[in-house]
Amino acid sequence: MNNIRSTVLGCGSYLPEKALSNAELATMVDTSDEWIVQRTGIENRHVAAEGEFTSDLAFEASKKALASAGIEASDLDAIIVATSTPDLTFPATAVILQEKLGLKSGFAFDVQAVCSGFVFALSTADAYIRSGMVNRVLVVGAETFSRILDWEDRTTCVLFGDGAGAVVLEGVEGTGSVSDRGVLTSHLRSDGAHKEKLYVDGGPSATQTTGHLRMEGREVFKHAVGMITDVITDAYAATGLSSDDLDWFIPHQANKRIIDASAKKLGIATEKVVTTVNQHGNTSAASIPLAIDAAVRDGRVKKGDLIMLEAMGGGFTWGSVLLRW
Ligand code: ACO
Repeated sequence: MNNIRSTVLGCGSYLPEKALSNAELATMVDTSDEWIVQRTGIENRHVAAEGEFTSDLAFEASKKALASAGIEASDLDAIIVATSTPDLTFPATAVILQEKLGLKSGFAFDVQAVCSGFVFALSTADAYIRSGMVNRVLVVGAETFSRILDWEDRTTCVLFGDGAGAVVLEGVEGTGSVSDRGVLTSHLRSDGAHKEKLYVDGGPSATQTTGHLRMEGREVFKHAVGMITDVITDAYAATGLSSDDLDWFIPHQANKRIIDASAKKLGIATEKVVTTVNQHGNTSAASIPLAIDAAVRDGRVKKGDLIMLEAMGGGFTWGSVLLRW
């Protein structure tokens, strides 16, 4: 067996120009800055401009990720885009991105696992790389949730935002030990029994409409911490590592209360938790690479750091990826 590790070569992110503050939202629905901050930690979110699509956000983040990796799009073997808000029902947003990047070779496809999408896409890319099928993969999380929100429903429209983040992975021969750089272990789960707790009430087959996001917020909250901590415990069991070994905990940015409660249950020190949800709200599959990029750019994440990623989202789907930067 080989010891190929999917190592991160570079990362990038993009937020649309238009910001929407809690105060502005309070002029649209019956809410307040105080309620939103206290219940979620969110202060701001970004909204894509008219005519700006998920693939455009993905393109901006991808250009930065490629520049940070020091490679050209033509050096890629594959593109995987995690999104639940594709430009069109088909073709995949990844294919549209491939065209925008001018890539004529390789292959591109989307992964749909809602807020867990980036973790699912990252582990898919890792499996392809470790199999030897490909060597360099661009993994993107990109969303325009503003397009599927019911802007009259204060229980959901205050929570989400638009954005994109990307990483470039490359297969590098490691030693097989946990001191290798790259993805060390991934743990994915889903349970469709929870499908009605967080869903979009439209789609090509069922309604021939796009639909709007519907959520039983309290129910999601109730399950989130247990599911998140389960897959992280699985990562510890697979590697013999523990919360004490982590340099950074970079969770899906849905809600500060879920992030804080998960970190507390796992015994992860507050100063190791990367939180960006205040700046962009819940950007679904884009939130983890947005948070990664913020922590890399401000110098917190350094080569060799041990990082735990986790997410939970509609389905429910949930998962963790443990990697060394
Ligand atoms: N502004 C003001 N009041 C509001 C708002 C709002 N935006 N939204 C709801 N309320 C009211 C409710 O109507 C309710 O009023 P009532 O008591 O008079 O009936 C009151 O606030 C409390 O409502 P709850 O739903 O019980 O509030 P809760 O404390 O549970 O917070 C929240 C709601 C923030 C949605 C919370 O349940 C939560 O964070 N859940 C998880 C949601 C989440 O993170 N989803 C995404 C994860 S998966 C993914 O990322 C796709």
